[in-house]
Amino acid sequence: MEREKFSSKLGFMLAAIGSAVGLGNIWRFSYVAGENGGGAFLVLYLFCVFIIGVPLLLAEVSIGRKAQSDVIGSFSRLSPGTPWFMTGFFGVLSAFLILSFYGVVAGWCIYYLWNYISGGFFVEPAGGYAAEFGGFISHAWHPILWHALFIALTIVIVYSGVKKGIELANKIFMPTLALLLVGLAIYSLSLDGAWAGIEFLFTPDWSVLGDPSVFLAALGQAFFSLSLGMGAMLTYGSYLSKENKLPSATFGIGVMDTFFAIISGIVIFPAVFAFGIDPGSGPELVFITLPGIFGQMPFGEIIGFIFFFALTLAALSSSVSILEVPVAFFMRIFNWGRKKTSIILGFIMFVLGMAASLGMGIWAGVTPIGSNNIMDSMDFIASNILLPLGGLSMALFVGWYFNKSTAFEATDMQDNSIRDIWYGIVKYIGPIMILFIFLNAIGVIGW
Ligand code: PHE
Repeated sequence: MEREKFSSKLGFMLAAIGSAVGLGNIWRFSYVAGENGGGAFLVLYLFCVFIIGVPLLLAEVSIGRKAQSDVIGSFSRLSPGTPWFMTGFFGVLSAFLILSFYGVVAGWCIYYLWNYISGGFFVEPAGGYAAEFGGFISHAWHPILWHALFIALTIVIVYSGVKKGIELANKIFMPTLALLLVGLAIYSLSLDGAWAGIEFLFTPDWSVLGDPSVFLAALGQAFFSLSLGMGAMLTYGSYLSKENKLPSATFGIGVMDTFFAIISGIVIFPAVFAFGIDPGSGPELVFITLPGIFGQMPFGEIIGFIFFFALTLAALSSSVSILEVPVAFFMRIFNWGRKKTSIILGFIMFVLGMAASLGMGIWAGVTPIGSNNIMDSMDFIASNILLPLGGLSMALFVGWYFNKSTAFEATDMQDNSIRDIWYGIVKYIGPIMILFIFLNAIGVIGW
């Protein structure tokens, strides 16, 4: 059977941007930036995205394009008989873990969206948004229904194929998302007192850099946000052919991912400051603080609807890239059709996600690796251990397993004026930085 392909470089770019732009840019970026002092964090984050993230993204995509296979098959094909294929196993494992909890949080977004459609959030719920949110996520089966809906939507897009599902969905979602968020940003800027939010986001207060964890937060956020290290970008790269040049494409993905993160910051912080809320309120910023703000704003119901609609689209365009990683692999090794594979794997992820959801309520006491709850444990193992290990391994593969000319050839960097800088990053600087985050995350070294 002939391998599927994106129809063009633009189709690939939109899909890859869709993968990168997700809950990571809107929900995670805003609270991590809020907790880490705003402006100075942003500068570090930009450094991490463009100096480390984008060069590694180029390496990851090039492995898939060169091998024309899934995340495990690519390594076996390019380095037969070696243990490099283990990198792919880490990727598939992280895909299962990440989509399980990502789907639960995305399910919460759809629930909020529904409340803005049905009028449930037109007035503040009796006990306030905090009690509403807490009651909802700890309920035994309500959040699971919304999670099921989200996973079902993800499955439908993936089983429709690379071109007719993933590419088409992203061609619709990405421009829509950009329009919605830019519109919201303009509105947010028009609020009285909005300027304090802009200053918070764009005026660096360098004193926060005294705390080294800010640096790590920025690096980790760059990694998660660019979808690096799991093989999502590798798998998308495998649907590209040689005539599409990679350096400009990957740079464009980095620029657009950053654009969406900053635009989300411009949507959220002016509103947060205009209503006197603490920007460092943490993961609840989007689910508790923002609905409270929308409730006090003119046209708040419409704004709330647009916001959670945008968040759901962003989450969906990322989740399809996560599901595609194991789908591509299982289709090849079992020779299954795309439909069957997407449904079976999506269902398994749904079941795993149920554990993450129940961990917010009746299983609240279950703390597998000593963290807050099951969802945190999944996030910790995937984001802090498996993604950095996967990214490290991919950088080492291109930097050390390939020789220099193969690395340049695979990435279309032969005639690029900064090719040696790129090579130095992939071979030395990137791996050292990743190792550093990794060791720090598991507490081997403590700053
Ligand atoms: N980048 C996605 C986001 O920002 C999350 C993601 C991580 C997607 C890893 C694929 C792989 O939401």
